[in-house]
Amino acid sequence: MRTYLVTGGAGFIGSNYIHYMFEKYGDDIRIINVDKLTYAGNLENLKSVEGRDNYTFIRADICDEAAINKIFEENEIDRVVHFAAESHVDRSITDPNVFVRTNVMGTASMLAAARKAWEKPDGSYPEGVKFLHVSTDEVYGSLPDDPDAYFYETTPYQPHSPYSASKAGSDMLVKAYMDTYHFPANITNCSNNYGPYQFPEKLIPLMIHNALAGEKLPVYGDGKNVRDWLYVGDHVRGIDMVQEKGRLGETYNIGGHNERQNIQIVKTIISTLREMLPEDDPRREHVTEDLITYVEDRKGHDRRYAIAPDKIRAEIGWEPTVFFEEGIKKTIQWFFENEEWMKNVTSGDYEKYYEKMYGDRL
Ligand code: NAD
Ligand code: DAU
Repeated sequence: MRTYLVTGGAGFIGSNYIHYMFEKYGDDIRIINVDKLTYAGNLENLKSVEGRDNYTFIRADICDEAAINKIFEENEIDRVVHFAAESHVDRSITDPNVFVRTNVMGTASMLAAARKAWEKPDGSYPEGVKFLHVSTDEVYGSLPDDPDAYFYETTPYQPHSPYSASKAGSDMLVKAYMDTYHFPANITNCSNNYGPYQFPEKLIPLMIHNALAGEKLPVYGDGKNVRDWLYVGDHVRGIDMVQEKGRLGETYNIGGHNERQNIQIVKTIISTLREMLPEDDPRREHVTEDLITYVEDRKGHDRRYAIAPDKIRAEIGWEPTVFFEEGIKKTIQWFFENEEWMKNVTSGDYEKYYEKMYGDRL
């Protein structure tokens, strides 16, 4: 039975990945989820897998090399799928060092531990072991408003925010391990994800939450920055496909050609909420475009991201399957059905975060 060590599995994409893997492989795989449980890690995301014999949760910091070494010593790990990171750009602007620590140093310690466990005295690696590093399109910087400009795997790195710089640093370390030690790895660079379990600091869940609560919808700058949105289910399927079919040492960009301006996203959320809320739901009163409030722009705000997924399509046969209009409905439906989840994550520390981030802007 193949054993996966998943880092950051209690976060948004990691928990979607764990659900996907158990749905696909059932009892044929084992997953060990290593997560520090920062504000972004939530075991409620994994309630339905907790009782499985082939699932283990270990609370640990990826920067704690001794703890990570111990996990490798006590388990025969075939695959590492490395999601754990500080992931929110705005937080990286107010507190950059925690991003350097987790994203750079944490990845360094994961790489060192995996190499220690896997590398044989002759420098080779056992058949089938692999480290998949989950990264972002933000490492490539910002594109002009030219519809023919895309991020390719060959696009030079030009990160701007402390978040993307720290992710670029982590990618470089993985590349260095591949070049220096022939370390068996792949890197995936994906565009913006949305879907179930996303923490409401990110654009889509924040707008859904605020609109339903009748709170202002803070749109940064002129609202015309472009992001390339991918339903999280398509991303996690791509990660699995890259592990199965990706050539060792290669990078694959993942994205679904779904570029939208932020203001378009916000307006689509409002119209979809209005379409989906029952006729007699009192929230219909306030879910209107009147809530949209333009606020001071994000510092160093990247203008446009757009992935060219040509390589993953041609080599691996991956295609997105959920288009935005359907994906946003599925996401809103999930939030309707999980009001308690939203209530839990937006109490306590979230309120302090929201006040700090938006208090002076709104
Ligand atoms: P998230 O913030 O929702 O989850 C991050 C998880 O990592 C949390 O469970 C957190 O507790 C854990 N974590 C943080 N620091 C840790 C540490 N020091 N040790 C152990 N665990 C720690 O993030 P996400 O949106 O699910 O992103 C997952 C990965 O995917 C990240 O590497 C991110 O850079 C990448 N990515 C995200 C997106 C996106 O749109 N969200 C797009 C492309 C790539
Ligand atoms: O591109 C992939 C990246 O996408 C991931 O690597 C990051 O982990 C993930 O957080 C995401 O980064 P963004 O900065 O693009 O996502 P965010 O949801 O924070 O913002 C999306 C856009 O919406 C961005 O242009 C900023 C804008 N925005 C965001 C928030 C939170 C607003 O206008 N208002 C807001 O309140």
